[in-house]
Amino acid sequence: MHELAELIRTNQPCVVLTGAGVSTESGIPDFRSATGIWKQYDPYEVASIDAFHRDPERVWEFYALRLDVLADAEPNRAHRALAELEARGLVQAVISQNVDRLHAAAGSRDVIEVHGSIGAADCLACGRHEASVRELLPFPRCADCGAILKPGVVMFGELLPTAAIDRATALAQTAGLLLVVGTSLEVWPVAGLPGETLDHGGKLAIVNRDPTPFDDRASFVAHGSAGEILAQCVSSMSSS
Ligand code: APR
Repeated sequence: MHELAELIRTNQPCVVLTGAGVSTESGIPDFRSATGIWKQYDPYEVASIDAFHRDPERVWEFYALRLDVLADAEPNRAHRALAELEARGLVQAVISQNVDRLHAAAGSRDVIEVHGSIGAADCLACGRHEASVRELLPFPRCADCGAILKPGVVMFGELLPTAAIDRATALAQTAGLLLVVGTSLEVWPVAGLPGETLDHGGKLAIVNRDPTPFDDRASFVAHGSAGEILAQCVSSMSSS
């Protein structure tokens, strides 16, 4: 029995927290690895709310490139393994920092998108929400007031959607196990969720290629491919 599989079985409910590392095997670069996006771009120039107010077209040029990368992206083994664990009643929900919607595409039903989603946009002038912006590119404008729309993702300097972060915090606090997959745990307030689980008596499991600040407080740590490790975990459950 894969050690992680045993931990998931015996520490229910298991809640999952994911980041960009769960989608790199789908061809989407992460942010802070050696090949990460923030090695190429300054996040405060292209992904902060100040940058949007200063130069919204520059921001949309960046997000249009992201949308292109996402257009052909498919869920990978990691997404599918987490959806399978949910279907078996072994995962309660997935809290994701990702805006790529690949967890839902893999079949996960309860996904909390704490950083929004890239396909949508919002009008800061009149409050209109646009569910799909692809056909409005290159510089999406509000159909009601004509203002340039803001990408539907949480930008640096913005607050997270209250309902999403409140639910994520409640799930982390009541989790028997928080399974952390593919995130550097460097961005707050999400980086505080593992501490919430530990402070409320739950355990941590971490699957991440690089070390994280919580490795020494986790009951299980695997530095490797999320797809490989989670696929092995699920198949070890099937064979036992
Ligand atoms: N398998 C396992 N881990 C991986 C893999 C993989 N295939 N690929 C990358 N990783 C790990 C990297 O080692 C890295 O530690 O995933 C982590 C991704 O960390 P970041 O790039 O910092 O991404 P994330 O934690 O999601 O960033 C949080 O910051 O830039 C903002 O809003 C953005 O949601 C994002 C937030």
